[in-house]
Amino acid sequence: MGVQSCPKEYMPHRTKGAFMLETTLCGIKLRNPLILASGIRGNSAGLLIRAGKEGAGAATSKSCSLLPHEGHANPTMVDIDGTYINAIGLSNPGVDDEIYEIREAVAKAGIPIIASFYAGKVSDFAAVAARISEAKPAMLEVDISCPSRKDALFSSYAKDASEVCLAVRDATSIPFSAKLSPDVPNIGEIARACVASGASCITAINTIGGMYIDAHARHAVLANSFGGISGAAIKPVALKSVYLVRKAIGPEVPIIGTGGVFTGIDAIEMLMAGATCVGVGTAIATRKESAPFKAIAQEMESFMKKEGYRKLADLKLQE
Ligand SMILES: Cc1cc2nc3c(=O)[nH]c(=O)nc-3n(C[C@H](O)[C@H](O)[C@H](O)COP(=O)(O)O)c2cc1C
Repeated sequence: MGVQSCPKEYMPHRTKGAFMLETTLCGIKLRNPLILASGIRGNSAGLLIRAGKEGAGAATSKSCSLLPHEGHANPTMVDIDGTYINAIGLSNPGVDDEIYEIREAVAKAGIPIIASFYAGKVSDFAAVAARISEAKPAMLEVDISCPSRKDALFSSYAKDASEVCLAVRDATSIPFSAKLSPDVPNIGEIARACVASGASCITAINTIGGMYIDAHARHAVLANSFGGISGAAIKPVALKSVYLVRKAIGPEVPIIGTGGVFTGIDAIEMLMAGATCVGVGTAIATRKESAPFKAIAQEMESFMKKEGYRKLADLKLQE
């Protein structure tokens, strides 16, 4: 069932002098490749609009589900010097409420909005995809890889990932990205299955399953015991995953490389690994500037100018 087509041309709000960072994602023009990652300050229209003001090229909303979901008990987050472990458990108000937030953000953010969602069964992925598409986001992101919700983990096997993508493909005409976990033997195979089943883009990576223990308390710190690691510690895993996905899906299908990007140089490395755009999550909660995306974009630009790169497409690994 087709819902509506996505805008092919998006008028970017340009940061002065930042034309060299302009790029295209699934036919949508972005002023820069930096995208607010799902779950970080993306719970409301106001926060998505804020990402636009802070210089993001696009912003992803917090994943929502068909019905409201409470998530895990507190404590849900540990911060270890720029590395987080969270077990929020995908708490969200449900798609019927979320649709209002997405609609407002689409109208006011001035940047493309990517609406993220998840489900515990394939038919619910289709239902949420159809419903959330009514808000006309530029893109969708299908979260099949949250490590703290085993019931919503469809990225472990190519067959499961493929079934979800086929259901979403049939439920919407908006391009969608499949968000993958690196906790698999062959992420390239999973990515290939998603693309063959209708995904127009791959987001790599989600958080990586982990645990933190307080020895003095003899207790796991998170109420859920396990959570998802994000931030500085996961950058090498994200780079490797993006590199492997790029090798597996070829040069045409875009990748949103996400994980541990704090600086412009980190973002450049992600592009060199094969990403088309760069998701930024934990860094946005920890960088001190009032406009962290603008700061990262400026760092990218000054690196490119200093090293003689004229456009993002020139940022390639020498192999
Ligand atoms: C507090 C928190 C909440 C998150 N919630 C979501 C979510 O709802 N959906 C999703 O797909 N990813 C979620 N993520 C994962 C991020 O979008 C991102 O993939 C991951 O944090 C790696 O990027 P980073 O190192 O830049 O944070 C969340 C991450 C954090 C830290």
